[in-house]
Amino acid sequence: MEKRIALCPGSFDPITKGHLDIIRRTARLFDEVVVLVMVNYAKNNTAFSGQERVDMASRVTADLPNVRVEFFDGLLADYARKIGPCTVVKGLRAVSDFEYEFQMALTNKKLCPSMETMFMTTAIEYMYLSSSMVRQVASFGGDISAFVCPELAQEIQDRLAKKA
Ligand code: PNS
Repeated sequence: MEKRIALCPGSFDPITKGHLDIIRRTARLFDEVVVLVMVNYAKNNTAFSGQERVDMASRVTADLPNVRVEFFDGLLADYARKIGPCTVVKGLRAVSDFEYEFQMALTNKKLCPSMETMFMTTAIEYMYLSSSMVRQVASFGGDISAFVCPELAQEIQDRLAKKA
């Protein structure tokens, strides 16, 4: 049987406990999971470079043997076409996420018909959480330990506090 491959794409600027929860749950459902660190052209410059975002995502998923992290600066549909049949898994926090995610899913389907998109409900404890909120709290020197993995908290804090 063909391997079931999931893609978890995002900016991951930085990766949060909410992202990790979706990745872990996806890893239980699929044979292989690619965490795809990408560029969201609707957002301005990221706080962390592509390499830094890949490093952070790699460290917090190191215990998951069927998960790998890659960087791709291009269309998600092009990446999907390159690897063959796969499923994009996106976390949905609230109704407000839906319209944008739905539009992206339909666009991606048009560009790459072999690719599916599935939405996974975010765990209730992370419903409010976003990378932009983490960046904002960290830039003012606030405590982000509830929002990101313990091994990343200090360095995110140090990096972003300098920019405040
Ligand atoms: O974490 P984000 O910023 O919500 O992730 C959005 C991301 C990076 C997955 C999305 O912007 C994306 O897929 N970017 C790559 C370019 C692309 O394929 N755009 C979709 C066409 S609708």
